[in-house]
Amino acid sequence: RNLTVPRLEFIVRYFTAGSMCRRFTLEEGIPFNPPYAEVTLKDDIQGDPLISERLCIMKGLLKEGQYAEAQDIVVRVGEVLKKELASLGLTLIDFKIEFGRDANGELVLADELSPNTCRLWDKKTGERMDKDRFRRDLGRVRETYEEVAERLHNVLK
Ligand code: TMP
Repeated sequence: RNLTVPRLEFIVRYFTAGSMCRRFTLEEGIPFNPPYAEVTLKDDIQGDPLISERLCIMKGLLKEGQYAEAQDIVVRVGEVLKKELASLGLTLIDFKIEFGRDANGELVLADELSPNTCRLWDKKTGERMDKDRFRRDLGRVRETYEEVAERLHNVLK
């Protein structure tokens, strides 16, 4: 389907990690219960700032009600994802998804789910199993992605 994708990222966090720790001076791995949802504007120059519902509407990125609708969908996606990943021995730390708007202006989930767009820590060892390996130059990037793919394939068999 043809979609217009506003430059917004809908993030759900189950544990502190990444930019949140830098922005708010927090240790990594502190649990959030209930999960912590954030919406950011994709803008590299401004450092992807947090954005409110009012500003999304003012900027014409979303219609009235769609901010809450999208956040509700992200939280529900996360519930499924978290359980599925736990069965692969992976703890979902956080993830982001994006939405498009179709010709009628309705919201449609429009993104990938992969170790590029979420943080996954191995349940037993705490090893980073996601793009942080690349971001932090931890090495074994390909091997780790392959390990995640293999665990997924084993479950899907
Ligand atoms: P952050 O800690 O950098 O804010 O990222 C939060 C989550 O969002 C993390 O799982 C990585 C994901 N993410 C993307 O997929 N694309 C992006 O451009 C950014 C900034 C984060």
